[in-house]
Formats: sequence, C-alpha cells, structure tokens
Amino acid sequence: MSINNPSLSDSFSPSSLAASPSRSKLEIVPRRVRFEFDDFDGPFYYNGNSCISAMWVAMSASFPAGEGEFIKSVMLFEDQITDPKLKAEVRDFAHQEAHHSLQHRLVNKEFDKLGYETGKLNDFFKVKLKEREQNWTPEKRLARTVCAEHVTAVMAHHALTHPEHMANFPESFRNLFLWHAIEEIEHKSVAFDVYQQCVGDRKLLRQQYKIFTRFEFPFNIWMSSRFLLKQLGHKVTWKERKELWNSLYGEGGLISDMRGLYKQFMENDFHPWDHDDSGLVDQWKQTLAPYFTGDSARK
Ligand SMILES: [Fe+2]
Ligand SMILES: [Fe+2]
Repeated sequence: MSINNPSLSDSFSPSSLAASPSRSKLEIVPRRVRFEFDDFDGPFYYNGNSCISAMWVAMSASFPAGEGEFIKSVMLFEDQITDPKLKAEVRDFAHQEAHHSLQHRLVNKEFDKLGYETGKLNDFFKVKLKEREQNWTPEKRLARTVCAEHVTAVMAHHALTHPEHMANFPESFRNLFLWHAIEEIEHKSVAFDVYQQCVGDRKLLRQQYKIFTRFEFPFNIWMSSRFLLKQLGHKVTWKERKELWNSLYGEGGLISDMRGLYKQFMENDFHPWDHDDSGLVDQWKQTLAPYFTGDSARK
C-alpha cells in the first residue's frame, strides 16, 4: 500500500485500540552475557578503516542514552496496558534494553582507552533526549521509539543474515552485536503493540518514521563519526570513504540490503511480525550460547 493512500487504520477509537493485544512470536528473554572486550588492536580495528570503525563506535556510543529513552517512552504507557501478555513483555523489553546499554557502556570505555571520546557523545545525546522529555508529548516520544525499534530490528536481521559483514570486527564486538541483534528481534513488536493499544495513530507514526530515517538517524551517526575522528586528529582518506560507501550502498551493503524491510513500515497495516524471522533467532541463540552466563537479567 502506498503512503499516499490513507486507510481506515489512520483513524482509531478506544474500542479498536483495546482489541490490539500482543502479537509477539518469541519469548523475550533478558539474558546476562559476558564479553571481555580485550581484543581491539587499535582505534581503526575494522581492517584499518577509520570511517567504518568510527561509524560502529558512534552506533555503540548512541545506545546507552537512546535505549534509556526507549524504555522511558514505553513505560509512560505501562498503566494503560490491559493485555497481561503485553504487560509482561514490556518488563522484559525494559530488562533487555537496560542490559544492552550496560554492555555498550563497557565496550565504550574500551573505545575511550583507544582515544575515542564516547563519553562526550553520550553527554550530548542525554541533553538532547532531556529536551525531548520536556517538550514532546508522550505519544510522540513513543512513536519515535517505535520507529527506532523497527530500524534496530531491520539492522538486527541484516546482522544475523550477513555475519560476514562483521568478519573484520574483533570477536568480542561482533558477538556483542549478534547477541544484541537476537534480543532486538525478540522484542521487536513490544513498543509497536503498546503504541497500537494506547495511541494507535498511524499517521503520526509514519510522519515520525520519515523524520527518523531520513534525518535524525543518519545525521546523528554521520555527525558522531565525524566528531570522534576529529577528536582522534585523524585525516580521512578517499580510499576509506570509498570503502565506507561500498559497505553501505554497494552490493549486499548495509543500506542496500535493508531497503525492502525499511519500507514495509510505511504500509498502512504494517506489524513488525509480518516479517517472521523467529527461525533466525533460534539458530543464532545456539551459536552464541557459550557467551550467555545462564542467569537472567530480570531482577
Ligand atoms: Fe537494544
Ligand atoms: Fe530494542
């Protein structure tokens, strides 16, 4: 369906919202993990390419503040959730995201030892999100979270289907992203189902998605990568830029590969589980099992 073809799902009523329980397909398991993060051989760990290395550092640096906002914006609606399954999923979603933030904080400290300044970036994101907290309605904050959750779920799908793209990562960093990807897919419909039950305005959702995917997300990563490389005093070469471009837009590149799933979100009747990648998660859970410590992050 086209984005210019609004359907009945653009309008909503309390009765239709109440009939939107959880449509999750996987159990959401907040696992504890252990990665040592002692295998980085320098700041440009990705095949010596500063642009690609800094881009993934920027991504990691954005998670603690970003995921904190995901949790807060969903929790704003906790009291309105009537579906007990969805209520339980919200708690597990929050536990998963909190543990992702913790692990990314640990690896970010390692990046800072290599000369990056992820702490400054984190402070910047925290200020921006504080402004959002003060000025945005709860509905708009949740809508933006739903959009970000879709993007992370699509990136997670790409990571699990193209692990070769992370072959140049140190093993600990690669496994961090793969574990994160598993859990992003497990909880990919939680924020969406809360939004459907408590807000339901698809038009607002599509507006926020356009802003997030066309401006906020690419700009933040680009600006953050530039900042990190400037702090390191590194002069980027054209060869590095070209390699980055190919890794994003080349054949099988991150952006090229994700376009289809990216666009699905704009369909009027979209639901995150329209795309069932539960089998992929089952497969990767077995591969990464040695890194799970056995106890749950639920407390
Ligand atoms: Fe996460
Ligand atoms: Fe998430």
